[in-house]
Parts: sequence; C-alpha cells; structure tokens
Amino acid sequence: MTVAIWLSVALGLLPLLWWWNDIWYRLTASFRSSYAVAKLPPGHMGLPIIGEMFTFLWYFKFLRRPDDYINSKRNKHGDGIGMYRTHLFGYPSVIVYSPAANKFVFRHEESFILEWPNVELIGKNSLSAVHGKAHTRIRSLVSRSLNQPDALRRITIFVQPRIISALKSWAERRTINSYKEIKKVTLENMGMYFASFEPGPTIDKLDEYFHRLLAGVRSYRLNIPGFAYHHALQCRKKAVAIFKKELEKRNNDEDRSTRPINDLMDGLMKLKDEEGGQLSDNEILDNIVNILAAGYETTTLSTMWVIYFLAKYPKVLQKLRDENVSLKKSKNEEFVTSDEMLKMKYTMKVVDETIRLANVAAIVFRTTTKDVQYEGYIIPKGWKVMLWIRYLHTNPDNFDDPLSFNPDRWDAPISASETYRVFGGGSRTCVGNMLARVQLAVFLHHLSTEYKWELVNPDAKIKYLSHPKPEDGVEIVIQEL
Ligand code: HEM
Repeated sequence: MTVAIWLSVALGLLPLLWWWNDIWYRLTASFRSSYAVAKLPPGHMGLPIIGEMFTFLWYFKFLRRPDDYINSKRNKHGDGIGMYRTHLFGYPSVIVYSPAANKFVFRHEESFILEWPNVELIGKNSLSAVHGKAHTRIRSLVSRSLNQPDALRRITIFVQPRIISALKSWAERRTINSYKEIKKVTLENMGMYFASFEPGPTIDKLDEYFHRLLAGVRSYRLNIPGFAYHHALQCRKKAVAIFKKELEKRNNDEDRSTRPINDLMDGLMKLKDEEGGQLSDNEILDNIVNILAAGYETTTLSTMWVIYFLAKYPKVLQKLRDENVSLKKSKNEEFVTSDEMLKMKYTMKVVDETIRLANVAAIVFRTTTKDVQYEGYIIPKGWKVMLWIRYLHTNPDNFDDPLSFNPDRWDAPISASETYRVFGGGSRTCVGNMLARVQLAVFLHHLSTEYKWELVNPDAKIKYLSHPKPEDGVEIVIQEL
C-alpha cells in the first residue's frame, strides 16, 4: 500500500520535474525585474540541473545530426523570433539561430559580453579577457602584428618551408593521418611566426602544454593535484615560461630598438597604440597564449577538412589545380606571396566554402549584462547566449543544398552576407581571419600543384564533439603527381 502511495506521488511529481526549470527561471526573472510575468523566448529548459543536456548529446553525439537539434526545436516551437530558451552546460541559456537574431546580439555588445570560463588560463590581460577600450587597444596591436597586409606578407613566406617539407614527407610515407600531421606542421609554423622558434623539443613541449591547458578551460575549477584545472594551470605556467625566456632575451638585446619586426612577439613588443603606449610584458605573454589557443586547433581542423572535401569533390580539385598550376608556371620562385593568393579567385572560393562547411567554431558564447528585450521577449540578466553560427551555414533557408561543397556559390560577394558568420561578428570578429584564409590558400597551392591523394576511409563517420572531425582524422594515401 505504502509503495503504491509513494509511486503515485513520484509519478505526480514527474511533470513538475519536467517543468521545474521553466517555472523557476520564469519566476526568478519576474521577481528581479519590473515585469509582472517575464515573457521568455519560446522553448523548454529541461530537467533541474541537467537541463537539456541529454537532448543536446542525443543529436550531437548519438544521432550525429547536430543540425536536427535546432530543427527539432523549430518543429516543436515554431520559427518565432529566431531564439529559443533552454538550459545547457549548467546555465539558463538562449540559443540564437536566425541571421536577424545573430545580428542583434553581435550589434549590442554592451548587453551581450564575452565571458571565458576559467579565463586565467587564457590570460587575464589577453584580448579574449578584456573589454571596451582595453580590448580596442590590444586588438589593434594584435591585428597589426598578425592580420594586416605587412604581417600577412611576412607570415606567408615564413610558413612555406615547413608546408613544402611536410607534404614531401607525407608522400614518402604514402599513408598518413591528416589531422595529426597538420597539427604538427601548424604548431611548428606558429612557433616560427610567433617567436621564431625552430621545430624541436620546445615545440613538442608547447604542444603538450597547450593540449592540457585547453582541456582545463571548461573543467571544474578545483586547484587540487589530480584535477584537470590544476594540471591546466601548471601547463600554462610552463608554456608562459618558454615565451618569457625568449621575451627577456629580446628585452636585454642592446640592438632591440633597431631590429626589424620579424614575428608576432616583435610586433607586440614594438608597436605603439594611438597614445604612444606599448604592451607590458604580461600583456604580451597573455596575448601570445590567447592567440595560440585561438588559432592552433581552428587552423588544423580547417586544413584537415579541405583535404577531405577535395578528395570527395574531384571536379573542384581539378579547377583549383588548374588555377594554381597557371600561377606556378607564371613565376620562377617556389614560394607564393599573400598578395598573389588573395587574387586567386577560385582558390579563395574553395577556402571560404571550406570554412563555411567545416564549422570549426560552431557556437559563440555570450552572457547578458542586463535584462534585454527582443521582439517583445526578455532575455534575463546573467543568462548565457549561444550564437549557433553552425546552423546559419547549414540551414537550407540560407544556402542552397547547404551540405554540399560548392565553391561556386561564392560567385556572389561574401562579405555582405549575414548568413556567413564563420569568424563571428562585431568587435570580436576573429582577429586572425585573413591570416587563416591566406594560410589555407598557401597550403592549397602546394598541395594541389604537386600531389594527388585518396581517402583511406571515405565513409568514416563524423563526430561533432568537441569539434566536427571524421573519426579516422582523415587518413589519406598521398603521392606526387
Ligand atoms: C578557420 C580558422 C578560424 C576560425 C573559423 C576562427 C573563428 C573565430 C571566431 C568565430 C571568433 C569569435 C569568437 C567570439 O566572438 O567569441 C574568433 C576570435 C578570435 N580568433 Fe579566430 N578563427 C580562426 C583562426 C584564427 C587564427 C589563425 C588566429 C590567430 C593565429 C585566431 C585568433 C583569434 C583571436 C585572438 C580571437 C579573439 C578576438 C577578440 O576577442 O577580439 N583565429 N575566431
């Protein structure tokens, strides 16, 4: 009898559990604000504490159909305002998926700020950590050292010896794992254009330290030996020590004022802001860590994806090859320049289409600084806002046949498009965007003019967490043409 009573109580409470988050967060938003009942964006916030994590994992991890996560919401709640309320990664959140709603968030930067979890791992003085004027100041210095024409020209020449020799060694081995090999060459190149480090033990150590450091960013903040956060802090210290030693060496160099700017560290040391101020040593070190963290995996993954797409689309590869072979024939030098690559129309379309479809930065996170009104709804203060930029690129409303790799879709100008947000938007738009595009183009030049390759597992399954990647890391058989 008692069991029956308890069972019926438990069953009676189930609907309450199902609606608990929705009721709780609506009530707290209403109490805190002047609204009688806060009208939250449509959606469902799932179970207490875990929210909608199971649904999210269901679509991303088990079904491997990440876009159907949003499609299921569209089916259930209608299209409405291009936003849904939910509860993910432990926070009450809003998912933003339409071009108009994305634009709104990117435009209202004082209401939606970037807040990195465990930001001390990336660096409290880094571009990603600072806001307002401090952000504008550091950003302009980083951009000039990394992403403006002079820097692009310098870096483009820097990276080619390692790209050429890596490709050669791949062909000698015939079968390689693209992801692993590209990761290696990407870090070697970053070591070179960040601080003129030659490949060797220092680079190998940096690889290990960064792997651990990034693993700590979303970990629980327990600074106790054995926990990921503690390990990440230790690895950050060791990575910073490597760059600090180099920085001190340069600071003590008597000729430093007359030395030309050779790499990112030189740029950050020497360039002046509008008021003639320069970055402190701590600012330089934090930003080097930040830029390496932001550029390492993104560059690796987009390069891996272009190898995959071109193997699957031989006609695209042929057009790309034709364009690059004619550039090669027109010059005597083996190295190409950034100016030449940026003029290569078809190659740059392949680059932009790769970055669209690779979706290596699938979601961009923000936090509301106040209650924000949008189309008659309230996004309460302190909620997480997830700009689901992946869905902008895979929604057939925005791109015809969105999952096919079709560089010709970029015959129309790309920059004006509100549906193309691969590099984010607003003042936090990727500060390495031109560098990422040019580096990919340079890699394509050497790959397409000298080599042919095939996928070992053309039907390899794709995994989507933490980043989209074929399960085999794109194994290929590669040989000289
Ligand atoms: C295909 C490659 C890349 C993609 C898809 C990509 C994507 C993005 C996105 C979406 C953001 C905005 C994040 C936000 O708003 O919260 C961002 C910011 C950033 N990216 Fe990239 N990125 C790429 C390559 C690079 C490279 C090569 C570097 C540098 C070497 C870099 C450095 C940064 C930095 C430092 C930021 C922070 C900018 C700021 O807060 O002002 N990224 N990136």
